[in-house]
This record gives sequence, structure tokens and C-alpha cells, in this order.
Amino acid sequence: MDKTDYGIVNLQLKGLAEAEKHWVPLMANASALLWETLKDINWAGFYCVSGGRLVLGPFQGKVACIHIEKGRGVCGTAWEQDKTQLVPDVHRFPGHIACDSASSSEIVIPIHSEGEVRAVLDIDSPSLGRFSEDDRAGLEEFVKILEENIAW
Ligand code: SME
Repeated sequence: MDKTDYGIVNLQLKGLAEAEKHWVPLMANASALLWETLKDINWAGFYCVSGGRLVLGPFQGKVACIHIEKGRGVCGTAWEQDKTQLVPDVHRFPGHIACDSASSSEIVIPIHSEGEVRAVLDIDSPSLGRFSEDDRAGLEEFVKILEENIAW
């Protein structure tokens, strides 16, 4: 599979962030950018911390679960541990929440505001082991650009 050129993706994200910093259009276009650019994915989007749990934010892909409690599933674990979760096989991840039975691997990265996790970026793939250390580095840079620009 072709490697993603995160240099270009992240440059495009910076362009989008210069055009608009409001979290809704920025996250909406950020998820569309990932959806257009990354090969072999079936979901890309955001969950935002609201009312003590994660609530579905802008995304591309199939209809997804709306609420995720802290510590539940891959997203809730990324929030609780404040740490990127790179999961090669979701069926082996205790408590994985299967929004789409086609998903086999997943990466979730926490997004911070004022030192706290404020949201997570979640990307799913129908292939086992889809996400590499290159994807982790590129997507953590993607999230850093969001953190530096987004207006909540
Ligand atoms: N699989 C995620 C839930 C969100 S969907 O993948 C869009 C999880 O276990 O947290």
C-alpha cells in the first residue's frame, strides 16, 4: 500500500486552519481531508469531551455511536490514558466498541486544550495492522496543528 505523504496532508491542514479556526468547520474539513487522502480506511473523525463523556463530532464514514464513556473502547482509553492508541487488531482490544463490524484496526489520538484532553481523532480501517509508526507520527503532527489553531 502507498505510504501517506503527511508532509502534504499537514500542509493542507494548515491551509484549512488559516481559513477558519472554528472547531466545527475545521474538524469537518480535517475529517474530509483524511478521508480523501488516506487509503484503506472506513471511518475518520472526532469525538469531543462534553458533559463528562465523549460525544460524536464531525466525521466521514458510516453512522457511528454517539456517546462513549471515559475508559470505554479505544476512544475512551485514549482519553483516560491521555495516550495515542494504535490497535492492529480491534477484536483483541478489550472493550472495543464496534460501530462498524467491517473495522479491523484503529488509531486514536488525544487532542488537548489548556492541558486537558478536549477531543480525540479516531480513524478505522477494514484491514488488520493498517496503521504504522509513520502514521502515528504523521497523525500526531496533524493533531498538533489542530491544537495550535482550533477555536473551541
Ligand atoms: N471503535 C471505537 C468507537 C468509535 S467508532 O470506531 C467510530 C472505540 O472502540 O472507541
